[in-house]
Amino acid sequence: MKLIIKNNYEEMSDWAAQHIADAINNHKEDRPFVLGLPTGSSPIGVYKRLVAMNKAGTLSFENVVTFNMDEYVGLPKDHDQSYWYFMHENLFDHIKIPKENINILDGMAEDPEAECARFEEKIASYGGIDLFLGGCGVDGHIAFNEPFTSLTSRTGVRVLTEDTLIANSRFFDNDMTKVPKTALSVGVGTVCDAKQVLLLISGHNKARALRHCVEGGVDHAWTVSALQLHPDGIVACDEAACGELKVNTYKYFKDVYRNEK
Ligand code: GLP
Repeated sequence: MKLIIKNNYEEMSDWAAQHIADAINNHKEDRPFVLGLPTGSSPIGVYKRLVAMNKAGTLSFENVVTFNMDEYVGLPKDHDQSYWYFMHENLFDHIKIPKENINILDGMAEDPEAECARFEEKIASYGGIDLFLGGCGVDGHIAFNEPFTSLTSRTGVRVLTEDTLIANSRFFDNDMTKVPKTALSVGVGTVCDAKQVLLLISGHNKARALRHCVEGGVDHAWTVSALQLHPDGIVACDEAACGELKVNTYKYFKDVYRNEK
């Protein structure tokens, strides 16, 4: 695993956006570049930068196909807290990308399990995901894979924990009863099947999750730790998120990746 430590959220976002742009621009295969995407506050800085690059003409999404990680069950697309809405407001409405290249799980699907199976099949039809960008919950979840979700899980219906309902209530008038109790989510296995996984972990409140991701063992109690088994897993973080790492762990990564621009 690579751990890229940047001074703050803005520098972390600079690094991650450039990394994604380079991966897309260096993609020389005939098939499209397949990009997995998250919601949340963590990727907003990256999305702003990708939009700016697209507008400046240095990054094209014409040959990019996207798959989003997750979606709340029961929220229509036009609900301002649906992940469909979030993605259009923060990225898709501001870049030139063929609409048919955007894939987001349908939280209103009549048959949620069939919707999840369809999503997995569609990912496979493109030959898998090239780069999966992700965030991480305070309790170490990736996508909506809460503690004790199988590390080999595939896309399916997830029940959200109370911790997550509380964390996400900030978007629902601070009222956790308004937060949907279930979501559709790619599995830990779906994320880890991507050729490369890049997670953004920033802020003091993620310090414990980062410690478990990097220093703990592979542990289904912290699903983010599955990244340790990935052949090309990268975490981009800020100084604040490093607060619970051992000094030697911190020094090691600062030393080894000192030349990462
Ligand atoms: C939600 C999403 C995750 C995201 C997490 C952290 O639970 N399902 O994909 O990583 O929130 O969000 P934030 O980046 O706002 O801390």
